[in-house]
Amino acid sequence: MDLGVGIKELVMVSNRLPVDRAVDEDGNVEWKTSPGGLVTAVEPIVQQLGCIWVGWPGDAGSEAMEPFDVDRMRLVPVSLSTEEVEEYYEGFSNGTLWPLYHDVIAQPEYHREWWDQYVKVNRRFAQTVAGQAAKGAVVWVHDYQLQLVPGMLRDLRPDLTIGFFLHIPFPARRLFAQLPWRRPIIQGILGADVIGFQTVHDAESFRECAETYAGAPTHGNLVMVSDALDNTRQVIAQEFPISIDTGQFAQMAADPDIQRRALEIRKEVGSPKKLLLGVDRLDYTKGIRHRLKAYGELLAEGEIDPEQIVLIQVATPSRERVDAYQLLRDQVEVTVGRINGDYGSLGHTPVVYLHQGFSREEMVALYLAADVAVVTALRDGMNLVAKEYVACRLDETGVLMLSEFAGARDELDEAILVNPHDIEGMKAAFLRSIHMPPREQKRRMAALRETVSQNDVAHWAANYLGSLAAISEQRSTVVDA
Ligand code: ADP
Ligand code: F6P
Repeated sequence: MDLGVGIKELVMVSNRLPVDRAVDEDGNVEWKTSPGGLVTAVEPIVQQLGCIWVGWPGDAGSEAMEPFDVDRMRLVPVSLSTEEVEEYYEGFSNGTLWPLYHDVIAQPEYHREWWDQYVKVNRRFAQTVAGQAAKGAVVWVHDYQLQLVPGMLRDLRPDLTIGFFLHIPFPARRLFAQLPWRRPIIQGILGADVIGFQTVHDAESFRECAETYAGAPTHGNLVMVSDALDNTRQVIAQEFPISIDTGQFAQMAADPDIQRRALEIRKEVGSPKKLLLGVDRLDYTKGIRHRLKAYGELLAEGEIDPEQIVLIQVATPSRERVDAYQLLRDQVEVTVGRINGDYGSLGHTPVVYLHQGFSREEMVALYLAADVAVVTALRDGMNLVAKEYVACRLDETGVLMLSEFAGARDELDEAILVNPHDIEGMKAAFLRSIHMPPREQKRRMAALRETVSQNDVAHWAANYLGSLAAISEQRSTVVDA
């Protein structure tokens, strides 16, 4: 993968490091790939460019840790106390911002103590970066947990070129308006030189909020930000839809061992005529309950035969201490139990539910094994699973069912689009996907594959980092002159 961008030093900043630290009962430390789409997308870029990566190692109360090297990355851990994990991460990030930014699917909670911890932890991240970044480095800040970092960092280190990328949706202005701290959040993000969003719509909403809450005029994709001395800076705020390393997924899908494993998976689940697959973090934004409801009703109505069809639902453990996630887990597991109890038999389980993480190889084997991938998010920044499924379907078979409310919908026109709130519509989409003739599958999948291979992660990174590199270059020319 050639990114073709001339960046001398890159500093990545995200809430989590790309690896998570887990300590077992005997005190043994194990590092595992962190969950979620951010790492999937960013990892291939940093493998090529190398970087310093500042982030939290993922365990509460850990004492200060020294930086360490993994492949081409220098990882710089930012420790969080138990209270900070509860109030900054589980609280403000995942109890306030996450539901607010996902169209208030769950009720956001607004607590001043959570906000105070958010400010404190964002400052620690900014100070850590300021202490690590070389003069004139490019710093790329990721996601909603760190929206104050760009502004704080600009104050601490005006020599840096700063990017901010929001991996999740940015809400409509009338929803964002609820946030008691809407002004400092917008001002914090505007500390960046380039602000990236997943979709055109997200970028538009942000620019409206920049005008309303920071009094910053906009011209097209540019936001004009003035400082106390009335100097004006132009900030780029536009869509840069994220993607995957399509080539790597395709290469793995062509691996005979992985293909063999895909056949084995089908046998292990009872050699169904049709195998459906859902892969999601166990998150209320992913529409897992809606999917199960539609599937359960089709079984109840005899529209699908439980002896012939299996749905594998991979539900990756996520944010397990947050109330809304515990409630969701209970609801999903009760529903899966009911469906299997009512429609299963000794030799056949209509829903194979897997609450665990898998290797990339196993994920690719699952994508190869599945006739239909089911993505029914109520709201999703992008949804990389949809793109991964498409990238793995080398023979152009298979059907992607895709929610209208996932960012990926903007690119993947040839999917079977669904509104997950419309259960009858979802049932019809399930039947259409299950029964789709091979010729139609091929036509749709070929078009989807074309889109995903053109707009892969290298394309995303080159566009985004290219914009940052141009600003960095301009700045160093001005300083040198
Ligand atoms: P999000 O970032 O909200 O979790 P995405 O669909 O954009 O959602 O990205 C999820 C990423 O995590 C994908 O790369 C997917 O392959 C990976 N993933 C999801 N579940 C698992 C799992 N159980 N084991 C390993 N990887 C997983
Ligand atoms: O963008 C969604 C996100 O928060 C990413 O930062 C990460 O990829 C994923 O979800 C996992 O979330 P968490 O770090 O809270 O487990």
